[in-house]
Amino acid sequence: MHHGEEKARVFVSQPIPTSAIALLEKHFRVIRNADDRILRRNELKKALRDADGLLSLLTDKIDGDLLAGAPKLRIVANMAVGYDNVDLKAATERGIMVTNTPGVLTETTADLAWALILGVARRLVESDRYTREGKFRGWGPMLFLGTDVYGKTLGIIGFGRIGQALARRARGFKMKVLFYDEMEVSPRVYERLKARPVTLETLLREADYISLHVPLTDTTRRLISREQLGMMKSSAYLINTSRGPIIDEKELVRALKSKQIAGAGLDVYEKEPALAAGLKGLSNAVLLPHIGSASVETRTKMALMAAENIRKALSGKRPPNLLNEVRWNRGKQP
Ligand code: GLV
Repeated sequence: MHHGEEKARVFVSQPIPTSAIALLEKHFRVIRNADDRILRRNELKKALRDADGLLSLLTDKIDGDLLAGAPKLRIVANMAVGYDNVDLKAATERGIMVTNTPGVLTETTADLAWALILGVARRLVESDRYTREGKFRGWGPMLFLGTDVYGKTLGIIGFGRIGQALARRARGFKMKVLFYDEMEVSPRVYERLKARPVTLETLLREADYISLHVPLTDTTRRLISREQLGMMKSSAYLINTSRGPIIDEKELVRALKSKQIAGAGLDVYEKEPALAAGLKGLSNAVLLPHIGSASVETRTKMALMAAENIRKALSGKRPPNLLNEVRWNRGKQP
């Protein structure tokens, strides 16, 4: 840093693991929202007026209007693998780099999907509540009978990093693994995992557990709606650790209520943090507050990865996880 030269300013929109803050503070002037709450739009807008970099979270809606009020902004480093909260096109038009945090949260998210599978199948949450409420009167031959996971058929929708990580777990449970992906997956990848590519309809009709691992895009929005729920077995469970809008939540509530399907394990919702009417009251659904990547180890890696993307971008280097083709090597703006 030359004498008199001002350090670039980086805004961090909510508290994150401190090692990432320390990394940023070594190089930049870090401005933080120290409150543990999601910023209102006008607060974020104000914070971005003189920011060169933003470490954003998926609760920050980064659209063209917001970016228009951020003349110095050069990078949005989203601390998430999904980036449907960022208008990539608007950022690209303004020459703003956008990055995400792929890879580091794969196993952690697959673990949570697995926890949801076991949790809904064996009725963990209901049983826990029952025990706490003092209702446990001793072992019962008919007490909380659930469904087996071992040896059943798993249907994975979206066979990228996380979908494949789920397939690896399924092998230990001797499950038959089907997957559907709109993109071509190399046989080298799925043969090793003993997974079989099928159409979406076949997957829906045959799987006992269906788990979603697609990003939210125009083609995946409401991929699971009334028709698709209607194809599922009445004994099947639906697991979602991807993005809420992949499922038509109102239709899901209807299907769960009428026992058209057996149950659901959800970590994400269509209109987070709101839940569709009726969802809360269903005992055949396990509902989590979007904690797919929420382990200390993984959140630390994600925060450091986002910070490193900012460090690179603001020193004229290509950030490792760049998502859009913008000029990353231009100098500081006048
Ligand atoms: C979390 O939802 C993520 O996309 O990382």
